[in-house]
Amino acid sequence: MNSETTFISRHSDKETLVRAKFLQDVLKGLSSSPKYLESKYFYDNNGDRIFQQIMRCPEYYPTDCELEILSGQTAEILHLIRERQETFDLVELGAGDALKSSYLLKYLIGQGVSFTYYPIDISSNVIESLTHRLPAEIPGLVVKGLNGEYFNMLEQAAMQSSNPKLVLFLGSNIGNMFPDDALKFCIRLRESLAPGDLLLVGFDLKKDPNTVLAAYNDKQGYTKEFNLNLLTRINRELDGDFDVSAFQHYPTYNPESGACESYLVSSRKQQVHIDGQMINFEATETIHMEISQKYTPAEADQLAKDAGFVPLESYVDSKGWFLDTIWQC
Ligand code: TRP
Repeated sequence: MNSETTFISRHSDKETLVRAKFLQDVLKGLSSSPKYLESKYFYDNNGDRIFQQIMRCPEYYPTDCELEILSGQTAEILHLIRERQETFDLVELGAGDALKSSYLLKYLIGQGVSFTYYPIDISSNVIESLTHRLPAEIPGLVVKGLNGEYFNMLEQAAMQSSNPKLVLFLGSNIGNMFPDDALKFCIRLRESLAPGDLLLVGFDLKKDPNTVLAAYNDKQGYTKEFNLNLLTRINRELDGDFDVSAFQHYPTYNPESGACESYLVSSRKQQVHIDGQMINFEATETIHMEISQKYTPAEADQLAKDAGFVPLESYVDSKGWFLDTIWQC
């Protein structure tokens, strides 16, 4: 085999593995009762594009609120961080378009701080575009993109550098876990970091329930399209035959628990085939698509303590809708 064919076969091996895992997760979720799909699979090419549209909707406030914090309070946030750790590498879990973190990156470069930025994302598109775009946009920035699951990639980052870490976990990332899972995740995160490492975590706060619900039910229908796109993705990538028009998008918000959840509801009794396997849907049967858990500032602090972190300081936007908080290992 020459080197080109070796590359091609390795490449397709990886694709086969990725497809097999996707199929396994989808079949597991759809044979559970109640049915669910994992929200990490929302982000194929189309999903990335639709999510950009969601972020531009007037109802979708989290991005703007957090942007206001990270662009307006950059100096305070980084001052506190640099008091604790003079040098560090910046690791971002779920970097997306890195718009929010770019304020931190620009500020650090402007201050002459030398560091490496390790964006981690499940989407290979995202990582590819960041590693090309950011160094051009922020001269002097060293970017090492890591495409994969958080903990595997954190390990990679730790292998590449022994500097202390500042881990960014922004947006609604932590909110995309059920509270029990968020706690387990934070414990695992602490265990994979070193004493003294810092974490900057974003929390969407509990607020007027109508405001929350509207953000997950935009008038233009992008959130609906985003949810249905996962069924289209399954059809395309896993040889599925979902009739996408036979599912209704249904978002809910519980102001007591803070759980904002989206479902797709089957509009009739139907059968769907995925990679040759049959899945039955009763009329009105649901697929749980995603949770976006909202917190109070006290609940966020409690999570830090329960997971063994020390909460140091918190920053909110002018509306008091979003919180970015610094925790230390
Ligand atoms: N999960 C993110 C959030 O809580 C992104 C998101 C917005 C989302 N709307 C969605 C994910 C609808 C899945 C379905 O804001």
